[in-house]
Amino acid sequence: MRLISSIEAVRRETLLMALEHKQVGFVPTMGSLHDGHGSLIERAVKDNHFVIASIFVNPLQFGDGEDLDSYPRSIEKDKQIAEKAGVDVLFVPEVEAMYPSEIATKVVVSKLSQLWEGASREGHFDGVATVVTKLFAIVGPCTAYFGEKDFQQLQIIRQMVVDLNLPVEVVGAPTVREADGLAMSSRNVYLSPEERLAAPILRVALDEGLNLVRRGERDALVVMALMKKIVESEPLAVLDYVAAVNAKSLEIPEILHAEIRLLAAAYIGKTRLLDNDGLTLTE
Ligand code: PAJ
Repeated sequence: MRLISSIEAVRRETLLMALEHKQVGFVPTMGSLHDGHGSLIERAVKDNHFVIASIFVNPLQFGDGEDLDSYPRSIEKDKQIAEKAGVDVLFVPEVEAMYPSEIATKVVVSKLSQLWEGASREGHFDGVATVVTKLFAIVGPCTAYFGEKDFQQLQIIRQMVVDLNLPVEVVGAPTVREADGLAMSSRNVYLSPEERLAAPILRVALDEGLNLVRRGERDALVVMALMKKIVESEPLAVLDYVAAVNAKSLEIPEILHAEIRLLAAAYIGKTRLLDNDGLTLTE
C-alpha cells in the first residue's frame, strides 16, 4: 500500500489504471477506521482491480460548536487496517491541499439535504456533497462505496451523481454493528462506559419500529411514536428525531408502502449518535 498526500499523484495513479482498463474502487472516509469502514474496503477489493481509500476530516461539513478539533484521529492504526484490508493507495491530503483558498463553489443537493440530519446540522450536507464531488474529481471514474449507516448521506450522493452526470457508480453497503447492536461509528469512542451501555437504545427503537410495521402497522406517525417512547425510556438519551420515511424521498408518507426507512438520532451524554434500518413492503 502506498500513502499519497498529493492530489496530482492520485490523478497519475488513476490515469494509469484507466489506460490499462482497470476498474478502480474508491472508499472515502474521515479515518479512525473501524470494521464498518473495513467492510466497505473489503467489498471494494472484491469488486475492483485497484482500490483507493481516502482519509480526510473535512472541515466544511462540521458546524460551529461541532467536534472538528476533537474528531478522533488514529492515522498509524488506520494505515495498518487499510493495508490489511487490501487498499492499494491511501490518499491522505492536507486541509491546505483540498482547500488552498476560501472555497467559493459549493454543491447543494436541495430537498434531501434539508431534512433530518440536514435540519439538525445546518450546512452539513453541503460540506459533504462538496468534498465528495472534489474527491470524485480527483479519483476520476470509479465505483465508490458508502455505508447505509449514513443513509441520508448515501441517498444525497446517489442524487448528486445522477444530477451532475458524475462518472461514478455508487454502491451502498449494510451497517456493521457491535455485538449488542450499536452501529459502529468513529464517535463511539466518546462514550463513557455507562453511556456505552445505554447507546444500543437506538437499535432497540428501530427494531421495535420495524416489528410494528411487520405486524401490519402502516401509519408512519404511530411507528414514530413508538420509537420516540423507546428512546425516551433511556434516561441517558436525549432524542433529536425519529422518523419513518420513504427510502427515496426521505419524507414521511401518509401510509407506509414500498421501500421504507426508519431513522433515529439522539444524544447519549454529549455524543450524538444516529442509526437507521429499513424494509421493503410488498403489499
Ligand atoms: P466516515 O464517517 O468516516 O464514514 C466513511 C464511510 O463509512 C461512510 O460511507 C459511512 O457511511 C461508512 N460507515 C461508517 N460507519 C459504518 C458502519 N457501522 N457500517 C457500515 N458503514 C459505515 O461519512 C463520512 O466519513 C464522510 O461524510 C465522508 C463521506 C468521507 C465525506 O467527508
